[in-house]
Amino acid sequence: MHRFDTVSALRHHLNSLRSEKTIGFVPTMGALHEGHITLIDAARSANDVVVSSIFVNPTQFNNPDDLARYPRTLEEDCQKLAAAGCEVVFAPSVAEMYPEPTTLRLNFGDLETVMEGAFRPGHFNGVGTVVAKLFNIVQPDKAYFGQKDLQQVAVIRRLVRDLSFCVELVRCPTVRESDGLAMSSRNRNLTDTEREQATALFKALTLAHDLLVEGHSTAQAKAAVTGFFTGNSHFRLEYVEIVNADTLQLASEVLAPGQTAICLAAHLGKVRLIDNLVF
Ligand code: PAJ
Repeated sequence: MHRFDTVSALRHHLNSLRSEKTIGFVPTMGALHEGHITLIDAARSANDVVVSSIFVNPTQFNNPDDLARYPRTLEEDCQKLAAAGCEVVFAPSVAEMYPEPTTLRLNFGDLETVMEGAFRPGHFNGVGTVVAKLFNIVQPDKAYFGQKDLQQVAVIRRLVRDLSFCVELVRCPTVRESDGLAMSSRNRNLTDTEREQATALFKALTLAHDLLVEGHSTAQAKAAVTGFFTGNSHFRLEYVEIVNADTLQLASEVLAPGQTAICLAAHLGKVRLIDNLVF
């Protein structure tokens, strides 16, 4: 596996491949887990070369403590990527990606006024900025993102449309632990007790899902989730929303198959967790 930490060295390497080979790209912030590796697998199965990036992007963190606590395990990550068949990893420094502080402002309109956008001001501006830079640097044919961050997928889809990037986005299913907890780099920051309590997130999503499937209204399903967390003192529920999985606009009823998304965010101790279920 080739590892680069400068834009120019990576560009030089990729320019020599691009005319003959298709490039699949998996951007990450490291602390890799099985969820990330399934994106590498998907990229490998549909492209000649897989490029992954590991960059804890400061501009998308609205909370300095969250950034400081974000796990960093570069050597371990590179071993996992190599074992998964990733050929190229880009792991730049902050100074390499942002030689000067960026003043760029992106506005994702209705996509960023709800859920993560509403509770994490500036987050999608940072995500959009870094993903646009990475797309320009790597120029992939296809790029892979996880459904775990459903709103991020919608934001990047709009970024690709509005800036005419020549890249096909692929959304990959959420990978879960055996007890239902969605894999996340932030799970490493949970204590053992919190790790057990964290299964409540998936239980709450399943509760809402089952109610909707039984014919209850979206308001009733949301109220049930709110009640579930009111009775669970370990958590502070930030939001639960039932939305269209593509447009993220609030859904007042169950939509066509694969279109309804139940999304939530909750704080457990010092860790903020998000999850969703699409059906
Ligand atoms: P990160 O949180 O490292 O996630 C990298 C990719 O892995 C994202 O597309 C995310 O949705 C996906 N992913 C995370 N957990 C997953 C799981 N349990 N199952 C399936 N996919 C999962 O998302 C980011 O980094 C950043 O915002 C980034 C796009 C790299 C821009 O900085």
